[in-house]
Amino acid sequence: MKIVEVRHPLIQHKLGLMRHAAISTREFRALASEVAALLTYEATKDLETVAEEITGWAGPLQVHRIKGKKITIVPILRAGLGMLPGVLDMIPAAKVSVVGVQRDEDTLQPKTYYEKLSGRMDQRIALIVDPMLATAGTLVATVDMLKAAGCTRIKGLFLVAAPEGLARIEAAHPDIEIYTASIDERLNENGYILPGLGDAGDKIFGTK
Ligand code: URA
Repeated sequence: MKIVEVRHPLIQHKLGLMRHAAISTREFRALASEVAALLTYEATKDLETVAEEITGWAGPLQVHRIKGKKITIVPILRAGLGMLPGVLDMIPAAKVSVVGVQRDEDTLQPKTYYEKLSGRMDQRIALIVDPMLATAGTLVATVDMLKAAGCTRIKGLFLVAAPEGLARIEAAHPDIEIYTASIDERLNENGYILPGLGDAGDKIFGTK
């Protein structure tokens, strides 16, 4: 499985700011979106382009535009919404497929409660966005859902990933690609990533 830890200085700097315990909702939200935009840049590096002739200000010239499969962004409710603006900043014409797969805090098992996918999923590249790849239960369920809808090219963008979750998604879906700003140390006994960011959903929405 392709796993890319994107160690760009801008990403490391922004993620470092996000790890401060006393960060404000406003700042965390802005940074989540900014890091998402930078991860999108990295995750779309291999998109194919096609040449086209246009009329530029100084006459005819050849430019390149993105070819082939169209993108659908797949934010996983609720925290994935915090990354959506940054991804849309980079790909404004993308369709958005909202998925609600929530981790049951007692069993740590995923429960699907919402699914509204774009049309023609077989012709799209899916960019799953969720701040935390922890146990990967949610991610495995989301990839199962996307594949059942015909999607064959799937990438996941995460602010922070745990080694345990990466191992689980690799075992279940070795054909997908993962882009993350950091592979952290481990999960704690409650399924939270250490050192991690805490509860990303609460920090993005200002709850708790
Ligand atoms: N979800 C979060 O918001 N944080 C974690 O550390 C793990 C799952």
